[in-house]
Amino acid sequence: MKNKKIEKIAPSILSADFGRLGEEVKAVEKAGADYIHVDVMDGHFVPNLTVGPLIVTALRRTTALPLDVHLMMASPDDYLEAFVDAGADILTIHVEAVAHLHRTLSEIRRKGARAGISLNPATPLCLIESALEYADLVLVMTVNPGFGGQEFIPTVLPKVEQLRALIDQKGWNLELEVDGGIKVENIGQVAKAGAEVFVSGSGIFHTPDYSKTIAQMRQQIAKNSLPPKGERKTAWAEKK
Ligand code: DX5
Ligand code: ZN
Repeated sequence: MKNKKIEKIAPSILSADFGRLGEEVKAVEKAGADYIHVDVMDGHFVPNLTVGPLIVTALRRTTALPLDVHLMMASPDDYLEAFVDAGADILTIHVEAVAHLHRTLSEIRRKGARAGISLNPATPLCLIESALEYADLVLVMTVNPGFGGQEFIPTVLPKVEQLRALIDQKGWNLELEVDGGIKVENIGQVAKAGAEVFVSGSGIFHTPDYSKTIAQMRQQIAKNSLPPKGERKTAWAEKK
């Protein structure tokens, strides 16, 4: 549908109260979240340990929202099936961790989930370009993965702009997601760069009123996001 707004808010449960995880997820769902972002950390790819398929199974019973599972793992290939079976709708791997990108992405799709590729702040876009056709989502990290509550790295924004221009130019059906340090105060500039799915952990769960925070985020996105496809010139294209 033309002019359809596609921006989505994906609260990251990493900053939720895990003692009341079900309630927290229901609360952000009620507050207007579009996806539930689940951060899987293995203590190898990143220096932290979080959750596995068991929690994804529990979340699947708790919410009808799509589960956006971000695998920060050194060997994600060994666990794709377990996460899809647990109920992941989107499974995102890191390009820095995977040796055969096309194969892994195709495998995720074959198992029945949407395939995402993520890249760390210092990883250049050219590393994933040839595999983007095999993906349904691309996740640009705006912090170095491993922890919630870190500071947004603004020098990643040109990469978001370049990706936006490339996706538009190719006409790919590929969601552009950003993750790390996103809050009401800076979500506008990320929307302006062309992102359309916004992960936020502490920016939502560490605020007193989730509905109010998500509404404020949407206001900022609406004020700053690019015009609908076909009518827009990205900041990157204008600079050229
Ligand atoms: C970082 C994770 C993020 C994190 C975001 O390694 O991938 O999803 O939870 O948390 P905030 O929004 O607090 O930076
Ligand atoms: Zn994440």
